[in-house]
Amino acid sequence: MAEAVKTALVVGATGVIGRGLMQHLDGLPDWHAIGVSRRPPAESHSAWSRYLAVDLLDPDDAKAKLGGLSEVTHVFYTAFVDAPDQAAQVAPNLALLRNCLEALDPAAAKLQRVVLVEGTKWYGSHLGPFKTPAKEDDPRCPPPMFYHDQEDFLRGFAEARPWSWCALRPQTVCGFSLGSAMNLMTLIGVYAAIRKHQGLSFAYPGKAAAQRALYQVTDAGLLARGQVWAATAEAAADQAFNLTNGDFFRWQNLWPRLADFFGMDAGPVETQRLTETMADKAPVWDEVVEAHGLQPNALESLAAWPFGDYCLGCDYDVMSSTTKIRQAGFAEVLDSEDMFLRLFAEFREARIIP
Ligand SMILES: NC(=O)c1ccc[n+]([C@@H]2O[C@H](COP(=O)([O-])OP(=O)(O)OC[C@H]3O[C@@H](n4cnc5c(N)ncnc54)[C@H](OP(=O)(O)O)[C@@H]3O)[C@@H](O)[C@H]2O)c1
Repeated sequence: MAEAVKTALVVGATGVIGRGLMQHLDGLPDWHAIGVSRRPPAESHSAWSRYLAVDLLDPDDAKAKLGGLSEVTHVFYTAFVDAPDQAAQVAPNLALLRNCLEALDPAAAKLQRVVLVEGTKWYGSHLGPFKTPAKEDDPRCPPPMFYHDQEDFLRGFAEARPWSWCALRPQTVCGFSLGSAMNLMTLIGVYAAIRKHQGLSFAYPGKAAAQRALYQVTDAGLLARGQVWAATAEAAADQAFNLTNGDFFRWQNLWPRLADFFGMDAGPVETQRLTETMADKAPVWDEVVEAHGLQPNALESLAAWPFGDYCLGCDYDVMSSTTKIRQAGFAEVLDSEDMFLRLFAEFREARIIP
């Protein structure tokens, strides 16, 4: 018997995580997808059978647009509002999730599961050295951290309802998106291109100790496959799971391979704050775009430098245990160094970077 078609509501469908999920669902015959964000997607997939422009910060807009979606069987929540600091991120990110579910739930009688995306900051990876490898039942980091508020709300909201929830905790999601606050791939790609255009080396911009520390990332495609597993597997109900590529690497080993890819000298470490050193580089990027006939993407839509300072500046190990999700049934792993080279080749092919 053919599997019943499931309807996904992908909230934050144009972000680095949501876009990867939309692409994945696009290839699955038993899924329909409805994408939600404020701005429309830059490209169309067949899965965009329906796209809804919704401002989830506005409860009335959420009710008007989501309040009649009776066909939704699964919610993939991947929206994010940036704010100057962790404390300021809490209220808008909690409001977004609350407005979304309070608007949708009364109509969505077929809803089976809500899959939330959290991250390794759950454990305090952004605050300094933390217990590694981090396990799902390790203590939460001290507040403020909006993942905690979102999960507490989701658990409470789901309690009195017939559907279940699942939370995934990836680290540094690598895929393609425009205008994301957190996209390390495009950030490294434009950093390399700008430095090369200026005749500079591909110097590692973080601290030397950060280049030596162990780090982990999550491929957006692998995460999308994990999200679908999280939405449908019995073992994933009402649980949180770490989800990374399953390996660890050191930037000092990867950086020369990336330098080769960009046709640059890796150079010595040049510790800097990208937020400051790249602040005035938009005109240089425009020259790069012109010189190489690239897609005309503005620098600020490809690189949010504070995120680069965070990812490349962790001078302590950033490691999650993925044992729990593997034992529960999602065992896919990727070689992260190979993933970087594959994704950069895709960005080059798409004329996003030279
Ligand atoms: N990226 C990473 O490396 C990473 C790693 C670990 C965890 N995470 C977590 O994963 C989640 C998603 O992150 P992401 O990096 O995929 O985010 P992102 O690339 O910034 O995408 C955010 C999405 O939310 C939408 N959105 C923002 N405000 C909205 C609003 N008011 N109404 C409706 N839609 C809205 C955005 O579209 P519009 O702006 O057009 O509305 C976009 O589609 C976050 O909780 C993040 O902390 C991310």
